Amino acid sequence: MELAAPAIWLRDNCSCERCRHANGQKLHGVNDIPADLRVAEVNEIGDEIRIRFDGDPHEAVFDRAWLTRWSEDDAEEDGRTEEAKRTWSVADLPVVPAYDWSDYQASRLDALEAVLRTGFVLLRGVPTDDGAVLDVADSFGFVRVTNYGDLFDVRVAADPNNLAFTALPISPHTDNPYRDPVPTLQLLHCLRNAGRGGDSGLVDGFRAAALLRAEQPEAFDVLTSTEVTFAFVAVDAELRATRPMIGLDTRGRIREVRFNNRSLQPVRGGAARVEEFYRAYRAFAEILDRPELRLVLRLRPGDCLVFDNTRVLHARTAFDAVGERHLQGCYADIDGLASTVAVLRRELG
Ligand code: OGA
Ligand code: ZN
Ligand code: ZN
Repeated sequence: MELAAPAIWLRDNCSCERCRHANGQKLHGVNDIPADLRVAEVNEIGDEIRIRFDGDPHEAVFDRAWLTRWSEDDAEEDGRTEEAKRTWSVADLPVVPAYDWSDYQASRLDALEAVLRTGFVLLRGVPTDDGAVLDVADSFGFVRVTNYGDLFDVRVAADPNNLAFTALPISPHTDNPYRDPVPTLQLLHCLRNAGRGGDSGLVDGFRAAALLRAEQPEAFDVLTSTEVTFAFVAVDAELRATRPMIGLDTRGRIREVRFNNRSLQPVRGGAARVEEFYRAYRAFAEILDRPELRLVLRLRPGDCLVFDNTRVLHARTAFDAVGERHLQGCYADIDGLASTVAVLRRELG
């Protein structure tokens, strides 16, 4: 067999029981491997490949299919970038991914995969009980407790410390960009929504960022390379995070959007750069405001949205302030949801 992988990779990835604990974890560190290792001899015994090295008496053992598969793959698999997503505008979603909470045991894998691929799922018929949103988060992962508590009530409040707790409209945004790490999932569960207004909107920020890249590449470059600071200050909290509005991975793929003018701090960098930044920021905001990108939903009691807060922006229209609208929200994280999906897939074989 022709070996594509270098000696150090082969030595590091040996599958034998001296190299790995029974749980599969490696028992050595990279510095335990001689630096000048060379492959001396390859022996093929059926499906087993045995490799001897110059400079190390250890014989490494591999399964042939495993070795072929891993040496042919030339890129890391990161499920978080645009490459792993099905991005959308409204026309791409004639049917919204929606599942009944009563069938959730049977549909859980599909529902959670929708969050990974499409960026959100709508669960219907979640009991309109206080705190039920936490049960939804517990069904796939772990609630992220913040200074707002384990859950937060979205309704008109006296002396609101956040626009969410007024009857005002809220334009498309991601939540809590002033945290690093940001909560990667958000849940919004509708308990009551009887008055006029208060419709919800969702926008795929990855699609919007990709449109910006195609239409105005200079603006895209500005937003991916300018670090801005988001902050939230209240009596019991002072949070800030400094990141670009559009985050890329090292291969230039879109990986994270932070967009929220409420908490954006004064941008620094001199007049010319600040003006250039605002041209780019406005260009992105104009794309995010396009009606063809905004999926409008009216949440009914029992509806619970689960969405990727690094990707999907949410919005609401203004509503009658007489106490007819009450949502409960919480945060959670997408690595836990992805883990649940992987375990469920494994169980299905
Ligand atoms: C929020 C928010 C939207 C709504 O609480 O983060 O944006 O529908 N609320 O009230
Ligand atoms: Zn070994
Ligand atoms: Zn919000």
